[in-house]
Amino acid sequence: MKSEQIRSTFLEFFNNKKHEIVASAPMVIKNDPTLMFTNAGMNQFKEYFLGNSTPKSDRVVDTQKCLRVSGKHNDLEEVGVDTYHHTMFEMLGNWSFGDYFKKEAIAWAWELLVDVYGMDKDSLYVTIFEGDASEGLERDTEAYDYWATLIDKDRILNGNKKDNFWEMGDQGPCGPCSEIHVDLRSDAEKAKVDGATLVNNDHPQVVEIWNLVFMQFNRMADGSLKTLPAQHVDTGMGFERLAMALQGKTSNYDTDVFQPLITEIETITGHPYGKKQEDDIAIRVISDHVRAVSFSIADGQLPSNTGAGYVIRRILRRAIRYGFTYLDKKEPFIYMLVQTLAHQMGDAFPELKSQKDLITNVIKEEEQSFLRTLDQGLILLDSMIASAKANSSNQIEGSKAFELYDTFGFPIDLTALILREKGMQLDEAGFDKAMQEQKNRSRAASATSSTDWTELRKDDTQEFVGYDRLEADVFITKYRMVSSKKEGDMYQLVFNMTPFYGESGGQTGDKGYLESASGDTVYIIDTKKENGQTVHLTKNLPKDLNGPHKAVVDLHQRQRSAANHTATHLLHQALRKILGTHVEQKGSMVRSASLRFDFSHFAKLSPEEITQIEQFVNARIAEHLELEENRSNTYEQAIKDGAIGLFGEKYGDVVRTIKFGASHELCGGTHVKNTADIWHFKIKSEGAVAAGIRRIEAITGDAVKEYFEQQSETLEEIKTALKSSSQDPVESVKSLQEENAALKKEIEQLLKDKAGNLKGDLIASATEVNGVNFISTSTDLDTKSIKDLAFEIDREMDNLFMILGSNADDKATLTVIISKNLVDEKQLNAGTIVRELGKHIQGGGGGQPHFATAGGKNPQGIAAALEAAKSYL
Ligand code: SER
Repeated sequence: MKSEQIRSTFLEFFNNKKHEIVASAPMVIKNDPTLMFTNAGMNQFKEYFLGNSTPKSDRVVDTQKCLRVSGKHNDLEEVGVDTYHHTMFEMLGNWSFGDYFKKEAIAWAWELLVDVYGMDKDSLYVTIFEGDASEGLERDTEAYDYWATLIDKDRILNGNKKDNFWEMGDQGPCGPCSEIHVDLRSDAEKAKVDGATLVNNDHPQVVEIWNLVFMQFNRMADGSLKTLPAQHVDTGMGFERLAMALQGKTSNYDTDVFQPLITEIETITGHPYGKKQEDDIAIRVISDHVRAVSFSIADGQLPSNTGAGYVIRRILRRAIRYGFTYLDKKEPFIYMLVQTLAHQMGDAFPELKSQKDLITNVIKEEEQSFLRTLDQGLILLDSMIASAKANSSNQIEGSKAFELYDTFGFPIDLTALILREKGMQLDEAGFDKAMQEQKNRSRAASATSSTDWTELRKDDTQEFVGYDRLEADVFITKYRMVSSKKEGDMYQLVFNMTPFYGESGGQTGDKGYLESASGDTVYIIDTKKENGQTVHLTKNLPKDLNGPHKAVVDLHQRQRSAANHTATHLLHQALRKILGTHVEQKGSMVRSASLRFDFSHFAKLSPEEITQIEQFVNARIAEHLELEENRSNTYEQAIKDGAIGLFGEKYGDVVRTIKFGASHELCGGTHVKNTADIWHFKIKSEGAVAAGIRRIEAITGDAVKEYFEQQSETLEEIKTALKSSSQDPVESVKSLQEENAALKKEIEQLLKDKAGNLKGDLIASATEVNGVNFISTSTDLDTKSIKDLAFEIDREMDNLFMILGSNADDKATLTVIISKNLVDEKQLNAGTIVRELGKHIQGGGGGQPHFATAGGKNPQGIAAALEAAKSYL
């Protein structure tokens, strides 16, 4: 069975059992402060398990793109070493939100695996939760009894809390789980060792394929368990492992999910798969990582230096480095695999097809830049080795290796490999220590804790009224305290309804205040969305928690954000009109102060294009376009009507569309009622974020007024500074520039004349030492002139050994030039000599045997260096 069919069979099977098929949520999570990537199918349904909102269907089925880069087996450094763990994988899942429970979940899992997929019953084992006295939890006999009607009792194994009790996090819904494992070994191997002893024992061919989680508890902040009001089912089956089992393979990488990529890597690198262990690991790493990185870029997350982008960068760099070291690829090549991936998975995940060019370009540029870093790292490592050797040590300090890793992104295993090849050692303990210290620092900085929610009144769906009003009479329904080192103690409040916009879709959250009936006020310093509810952040808890409050949004801040948000829509429209419809939004940040818009486009914008874009947006503002809003469209209908949606964005069943004239987008943000409210739009900067992604930063309204005022003040200051009688400062600047250029020329000529005189003097000053023409002197020329002078004298004089010292701005330099014939005949090396003489000026340097320079901070040492130079002859 082809993997495509395995996937569709799963979805159809549960669809026939009345499960609604839903789309995978994006792999990159944008609106959840607790999670960067989807790491389990249940992430997108958290709000249903928590009871924050009610799902439209209580039975759902899907395949979810997941990414795991930490945890026991999914430690990034481990992936590719074995044959059945991945960074990115698909998780097939069926879900019951308060509907069916253990009986159906177990029966259907069995029916699908055995009757539909045709798996051999005798290759399967199941585990059930054995109970845990410390938690006061009983053995899951209910699950056992259901399994006992389907499978031999000796194939039902007990599992402990670690393997058979699934928890979403430190707090929240959890429950016992029942896993299905498959034994893919040959009959001969099975006869030798009982498969039951290999379950959950890291055997590559006895692996878990499906986890059925029975959510029945809520883990409280104090660690206790509370029974949930409704019971849910969350199942997760590893798609790649299922393909391995159904396609009769013993490695996920041998299935048709990975084979096309592996064949392509073999072709590009000329290294066959299955011949040499090191090559195989490299090929597995690359075929796994290119998927993770491509899916992430398609979801809008590019490699970068922080957060989720940094995780992606590290994954890609790991792949590049495996190609570099084991497959001899010193040039970019991973980007070439995107074509194969898009071809293979583009039907199930169309975003791969539609964004193929962008993904390819981003990966290629990232490869180029990291290969350059690797080169720099190698040079640095060479100098570390040289200085260790100079100190008669054969060890590189761990902190130095960590610096290479941390600052230059130079992988530690590559450092270790190179050191081994050069007969050197790495201080691994020192490296681990430095790494641990850094982890501790960042953990301490980001650690947060929260108390349980205190419920004040029942209210299961929260209403957002902030599109229409900025004030509402509300009740606090629940609150809790959150503490973090960075921000101290804060309170999170949830209301029965709210006019406050919670940060999402790139727009920052509203600020404002909450006023009790008696006039007590607490400030709302930010608003966020968490698990489907709007959470208001305050420094203090309101005195009256039960009474009604007036919730008031800061009008000025909201107006500015709204103007900026509408401006991003008009900017998007302008870009597509002026640059072309290839432009796609790749990210945006709408704050009250300014807006930022990232989009796909392959060239720098010219000043004319920028002006055209500004004019286009300002023309829409001048047209006084009214907001046309629809809050109750279906996604399909909105797209059909021409609204633009974004990849990597999670849309609900009912969507909101925003129209200003011909600009028409799916959007949940807040907007002006009329484009006239934006007043004016001004682009402040345009630049590159990554290959093929540009960023525009712009301002609107009051901020433009402030900007123009500042510009005009600056102009006045320039006029004053120019002290020019001319009324036109541009003319004055131009004439200054001309004057400057003429002066520069004059100085160059003067220096040349001076060097010319010096040349004659120097040649005349040469003394003969052991058949060598030796020149040594101090000069105050600049470095370029010294270099030119040295090469000129070298051309005119044979058997030359010249050393020049100079002192400019308290920086000492030494320049040594040696005739090429002497380099060989007398074994003289300018590079080595200048490095040694550099000690006199407290510096270092190097270069070629023929010509080399050193720089140092002690000009007093120049004389000694010049004197010592003679000793080489
Ligand atoms: N939540 C469970 C898991 O991630 C089952 O989907 O394994």
